[in-house]
Amino acid sequence: MSKPRLDGKVAIVTGGASGIGEAMARLFAASGATVVIADIQDALGEAVAASIGPPCTYTRCDVTDEAQVESTVAAAVAAHGRLDVMLSNAGVLLLTGSVTDMDLSALDRVMAVNFRGAAACVKHAARAMVSAGTRGAIVCTGSVACVQGGYGPASYTASKHALLGLVRAAAGELGRHGVRVNLVSPGGVATPLSMAVAGMGAEEIEASTEAHSVLRGKVLRAADVAEAALFLASDQAGFVSGHNLIVDGATTAVNPAVMRSVGL
Ligand SMILES: NC(=O)c1ccc[n+]([C@@H]2O[C@H](COP(=O)([O-])OP(=O)(O)OC[C@H]3O[C@@H](n4cnc5c(N)ncnc54)[C@H](O)[C@@H]3O)[C@@H](O)[C@H]2O)c1
Repeated sequence: MSKPRLDGKVAIVTGGASGIGEAMARLFAASGATVVIADIQDALGEAVAASIGPPCTYTRCDVTDEAQVESTVAAAVAAHGRLDVMLSNAGVLLLTGSVTDMDLSALDRVMAVNFRGAAACVKHAARAMVSAGTRGAIVCTGSVACVQGGYGPASYTASKHALLGLVRAAAGELGRHGVRVNLVSPGGVATPLSMAVAGMGAEEIEASTEAHSVLRGKVLRAADVAEAALFLASDQAGFVSGHNLIVDGATTAVNPAVMRSVGL
């Protein structure tokens, strides 16, 4: 199978200044797309866009502010004539405490970025695609926390479960317009987000995730997640919608404790 290409397509990547979003921006641009990086880290976003080179650009967009999401989509369409791909990837993980001690204002903040922000991205990207008759693709960055508890605080798990519901509902409604909506859901990746939360460097994070991995001999990197997102965004996934593509080397597919107990 040939590598997916996005020649002539226009993509917005939220959270594209860092980590997984940066890897997506680089891979999508290398695959032929015109990429708009939308983030709140201006210096970093500008630097990533400059290092990718034209026609990649950076725009400030706080996804918690619906008006900024709407104007980012409108500006991309005005500048490039169309929107084919929305990568709703911006996310935060805040240490909101255990359930019995949960910081509810921090919970609001997590939901505002991870769920409400993604809802704004899906809404305005879908509006632009439907009104132009574009058979577009929306890919949201989920997480293994979409399908299992225990990968982060309850606030994070809840926000990602909500995102899964949003994607499934949106895929149902947008199918009649030819717009596909999917999730790419990674396991642990060493990024500024995970390094800050764990208080570890990249090598330590990778060693710790490798120790818990089912699939051995490979460490999950942001570039691997970007490849999965590229597939979902491309015409090669032309009949894939409402899908949660988990990129975790089978970690959520099995229960290692049960496997051990039955001698596997
Ligand atoms: N790193 C992991 O282990 C991991 C695992 C599973 C899922 N994820 C998800 O991947 C996505 C990317 O995370 P990452 O690990 O690359 O982290 P990261 O911190 O490197 O990147 C996240 C980006 O989102 C941006 N952002 C945060 N709030 C924003 C807002 N309100 N508006 C616009 N941009 C905003 C940040 O500025 C940053 O550039 C997140 O949705 C995260 O939940 C990460």
